[in-house]
Amino acid sequence: MALKHDLLMELEKSRGSYLSGQKLAEQFQVSRNAVWKAINSLRQDGYQISSRTNSGYMLADSNKQLSAAAIRAYLPEHLQAMPIFAYRKIDSTNNEAKRLISNGMQDDALIIAESQSAGRGRMGRSFYSPPDGGVYLSLVLHPRSALNQAISLTTMAAVAAAAALESLGSEPVQIKWVNDLFYQGKKICGILTEAVSDFESGIASSVIVGIGINIATEFPDELRDIAGSLDSPSINRNQLIAMIAANLLRMAADPADKSYLQTYREHSLVLGKQIIYWQNDISYTGTALDIDDQGGLVVADADGNTTVLHSGEISLRLAEQKH
Ligand code: BTN
Repeated sequence: MALKHDLLMELEKSRGSYLSGQKLAEQFQVSRNAVWKAINSLRQDGYQISSRTNSGYMLADSNKQLSAAAIRAYLPEHLQAMPIFAYRKIDSTNNEAKRLISNGMQDDALIIAESQSAGRGRMGRSFYSPPDGGVYLSLVLHPRSALNQAISLTTMAAVAAAAALESLGSEPVQIKWVNDLFYQGKKICGILTEAVSDFESGIASSVIVGIGINIATEFPDELRDIAGSLDSPSINRNQLIAMIAANLLRMAADPADKSYLQTYREHSLVLGKQIIYWQNDISYTGTALDIDDQGGLVVADADGNTTVLHSGEISLRLAEQKH
């Protein structure tokens, strides 16, 4: 029902303040009764909408529900028609993205969930994804060369997430090369990028960028030492998701523009520091010097010889800290 969706977008934009029923009716060229019915239907869907005589309707500021309509309300106009799939609970948004692609979906699309029962991380790890406290999203993109661009997209995704968080008022976050965001020494965000091949041609045609962020997440004992949370329950998660998607799609549309790497460098947790990295089970020590234009980490050994590390082949930690 289009009216319901349009009303939700308006309420979401003015979250926490009242909108006049009369004005809404005029804006959407419907009767006040139609507005009232649509509001009641939204309430039945779980939205906390209060009404007050002479003031109108207000979406409660505390409303934490994720919804496709609310995300759309925060997307720039040229992205508002993109498909958005929102779930209360799913195995993994990256898995759902794969299913949608194998069922023939060819659009860029966004998949979000309130919680994941089998959230996946890199290297076969799981990603803890409880309800209420986090953001779990997958963005499906179709770059011209999916395999080549998958690494850049991961780097862009880290910048997209850091910039969106900070512009919504979170404390500054840092990026640990290549794809984790850190806050107060603990990981608060992970990114899993997967290229999907077309079954018939065998050519990688789509990329799925999966991003998980702990906003106000309580962890079980075994994760508390390594996993952190932003502790920013007031962040509007619908707005955050829209900003991350818009940031990432903007950067991906112009891969020749490398200016995002400057933001990446400014947020880097490793540049200028001693690091230990492993390649094929052998450990090396070096100083992280720079991020090159391909997103590689330039490292110098004790003799000043430099080497460029590429993601996927190494695991890394700061020499003075255990992460
Ligand atoms: C990592 O830390 O190794 C990457 C974690 C990626 C988690 C996100 S949450 C949304 C998307 N769906 C998944 O199953 N994983 C990614």
